[in-house]
Amino acid sequence: MAHPDRYLLAGVMGWPVMHSRSPKLHNYWLAQHHLIGAYVPLAIKEDGLEKALRALPALGFSGCNLTIPHKEQAMKIVDHVDPVARRIGAMNCVIVGADGSLSGTNNDGFGYIASIREAKPDWRADQGPIVVLGAGGAARAVLVSLIDEGAREIRLLNRTPARADDLAREFGGPIKTYAWSSRNDALEGAAMLINTTSQGMVGQPEHDILLDKLPTTALVSDIVYIPLETSLLAAARKRGNTTVNGLGMLLHQARPAFKAWFGVMPDVTKELRSMIEATI
Ligand code: ATR
Repeated sequence: MAHPDRYLLAGVMGWPVMHSRSPKLHNYWLAQHHLIGAYVPLAIKEDGLEKALRALPALGFSGCNLTIPHKEQAMKIVDHVDPVARRIGAMNCVIVGADGSLSGTNNDGFGYIASIREAKPDWRADQGPIVVLGAGGAARAVLVSLIDEGAREIRLLNRTPARADDLAREFGGPIKTYAWSSRNDALEGAAMLINTTSQGMVGQPEHDILLDKLPTTALVSDIVYIPLETSLLAAARKRGNTTVNGLGMLLHQARPAFKAWFGVMPDVTKELRSMIEATI
């Protein structure tokens, strides 16, 4: 076999980074598409981010993903930040241009919507009120994607109300905020409930929301994927709601990054999902 002209390279920069599932994901796709290359964990501390990013073109990297603690800081370093990343206020993907410039984007919102459509292909954001719990970084990506999909009413609730109010002011449009204490009542007539908080994650407090007022036709989604079924999703499933766990968002956000770096839009296969589930 002829040698390819270059070894394809990408990675994920973070600190800590060894827990990241991204290398497994991208290396699966590289092999599936018979591409010669590797996706590697890059353990980079906060003060090393600029040097590490600027080294990417010289080392022949096509780009990288960013995880904690780099998602916001990187926006000040790269040459171009696309509008989606700007609105979300964070980047999770860097693409090295042919001229060695660095462009930043954020595929979390794409991944979120794709994971919902994978579970429910006819899902639309304008099918009824959407209740969103949480107002942190993850909520920003979810809210931007829901607004772009045409959501008409988003009920936003956060334990610290000022953070929800800030987001409503910033994104405007369909977002209305409600007190955290009214979370059980806010479910009345909702078409969808989304958890973006860390509640229900391994090591964090369990959910204490009562789903009685949520229609059983509502879709319930949790962006947490450790555990795969949070207490919220288990309670929703038991009463007949369709549920979507957070793994799909992780898997689908990786697809446009792979496409931007290596030119092929990969699929989330059953085999890939099982392989990643086995690591959880
Ligand atoms: P991320 O970027 O992952 O969203 P974050 O910015 O720290 O992380 O946000 C975490 C979210 O989970 C916030 O909405 C947080 O609520 P506060 O703004 O009040 O801190 C929410 N959260 C974390 N633990 C929670 C708990 N035990 N009960 C309710 N909300 C919780």
